[in-house]
Amino acid sequence: AGGRGSRLDPITRSVNKHLLPVYDKPMIFYSLSIALTAEVDKILIIINDQVDQSKFADLLGSGDRYGVSIEYLVQTQPRGIADGLKIARDFIKDDSVLLILGDNLLFGHGLKKNLLQAKHNAKKSLATIFGFPVSNPKDYGVAKMQNQQLVEIIEKPSIPPSNLAIPGVYFYPNIVLDIAQNIKPSARGELEITDVNNQLIHYQKLKIVDLGRGYNWLDLGSCSNLLEASIFIRNIQERQGNFIACLEEIAFNQKWITKNELKESIETLPESGYKNYLFKLTNHNLPEIN
Ligand code: G1P
Repeated sequence: AGGRGSRLDPITRSVNKHLLPVYDKPMIFYSLSIALTAEVDKILIIINDQVDQSKFADLLGSGDRYGVSIEYLVQTQPRGIADGLKIARDFIKDDSVLLILGDNLLFGHGLKKNLLQAKHNAKKSLATIFGFPVSNPKDYGVAKMQNQQLVEIIEKPSIPPSNLAIPGVYFYPNIVLDIAQNIKPSARGELEITDVNNQLIHYQKLKIVDLGRGYNWLDLGSCSNLLEASIFIRNIQERQGNFIACLEEIAFNQKWITKNELKESIETLPESGYKNYLFKLTNHNLPEIN
């Protein structure tokens, strides 16, 4: 959750982009929901300055409420996504790692299965990234495929080799730390995650899973994107009655918090739609999240 969010100026002059609302929750909830759904319970959030650190801590605390541990570190300069891996080195130690951008909204049936498989691969030394078909691939890292094999990722290509963009959800084996340590800044002065991924492709240690058409991956980088994402979340939640990215619900489903802990944490909340939803969860059998 680094970066300045400059495309959202003036909104982001006084509010961190990742705390802005996407319908009824702060943006960062949607990324955290991916981590929780992947059953990752040790989380490090990298943010862009000390002032924001206290705002994130006000919102999420140490993660207790969600049955996880959350720590925070600051990235003092916007040195790129791969720099996050360098910052997180001591946190990751000799483990595998799931890196998620703080402005990702990924939604679709079967996501949990895909995430758990990718996590399993990372523990067995194989990185996994996802591919998602978009109509504007030039704005992203894009997969170049040959004979159905991923041969390269090209960052913001002027002539896209395919329509498969790479969302910011990356499962890595521990070797990624050494790779991130050794890459050089790109023309835009950043350590590019695409350079890291291309190294892994070179070592034949990276697999791409094409999410296909049954998912939605939303970019939350512009005002128009934010509005679209809010409408998307509202439509699904109102139609189904199920919330997307309700962190307590995911934690409760995974038995990371008990019904009593959920009830206690509800009592601390002011009256809101979110509180009402949590309250209902304590009285009904939960829908499976998959
Ligand atoms: C970054 C990555 C790009 C990826 C995108 C996903 O782009 O560099 O490969 O497809 O996130 O949102 P950036 O947001 O830095 O422009």
